[in-house]
Amino acid sequence: MDETTTLPFDVKLAASAELVENTLRKLLDGRPLEGELYRPERLLKAMRHGVLNGGKRLRPFLVLETAALFDASDDTAALRVAAALECVHCYSLVHDDLPAMDDDDLRRGKPTVHRAFDEAAAILAGDGLLTYAFDIVSAVETALPAEAKLALVNKLARAAGIGGMAGGQALDLAAEGGNLDEEDILRLQAMKTGALIRFACEAGAVIGNAQPADIERLGEFGAAIGLAFQLADDLLDLTASSEAMGKATGKDAAAGKATLASLNGIDWTRRQLDGLVAQAGDILEPFGERAETLRQAARFVADRQK
Ligand code: IPE
Ligand code: IPE
Ligand code: MG
Ligand code: MG
Ligand code: MG
Repeated sequence: MDETTTLPFDVKLAASAELVENTLRKLLDGRPLEGELYRPERLLKAMRHGVLNGGKRLRPFLVLETAALFDASDDTAALRVAAALECVHCYSLVHDDLPAMDDDDLRRGKPTVHRAFDEAAAILAGDGLLTYAFDIVSAVETALPAEAKLALVNKLARAAGIGGMAGGQALDLAAEGGNLDEEDILRLQAMKTGALIRFACEAGAVIGNAQPADIERLGEFGAAIGLAFQLADDLLDLTASSEAMGKATGKDAAAGKATLASLNGIDWTRRQLDGLVAQAGDILEPFGERAETLRQAARFVADRQK
């Protein structure tokens, strides 16, 4: 076992978050790229507000850790794909907070983008971030074979789009009447949250030129922890304070939104989370000790307090 494997999980997550933060900061500087005419300062500021504001950076961490299974985590390509995914995630949060959606004032302990700027700026910051993600993955600076980049672009588009995050958000908004059964909720969550987390885990394997069976296996791992991630989010929405979370809580019940946690209770949700952590660990079995950090990531997702 190499020495980095024995570091506490939060130290590993913090180290990776710093790398990702630096990459994102550079990507969002004022210099236009080749083919860009000019980067409007207010739009850039709104984008930076939505991105460089202290998220957990779990999705990029998963990209880097799954790439590490195939000895590819040190590549700048892995870091760029990780940053691209975080751009998509942050865009989803900026739009999720808009008045037309969850109408939230607080995100990561700070005013949401439409509060700090205005609604048009938040919509455009989201547009900018989503498109930039595909620029980052496909750009020449992302040193991967064209086939791998194409696979990443396609998988990311599907994870973010109609049958993924955006579709899940549409189902989520339609669920405010509280008329969903468990199967509907599971599908909604697999789409709105699971799809990007699944992509994170598959992406590391694609970057590492893994065999299709390993890409699929890591995708299944991502799906299991993606479900755990949203279950934990719904549990925290029921039980945690807004100060601890850096965002409003108690919103799902107030919006009449049934979640698995509200339908089945806190104890059931904790047992379910334990089951998903065990399931995620089983999926990683063939990778042996090399996947220890990913096992810890599954535990972190279930036990997180923010
Ligand atoms: C929040 O995601 C939105 C959900 C999918 C539940 P995170 O909890 O990963 O948010 P940040 O990035 O750490 O702020
Ligand atoms: C949003 O779910 C998931 C996204 C795709 C952004 P939530 O609406 O529950 O996320 P939070 O609680 O605002 O972070
Ligand atoms: Mg929402
Ligand atoms: Mg929300
Ligand atoms: Mg929530």
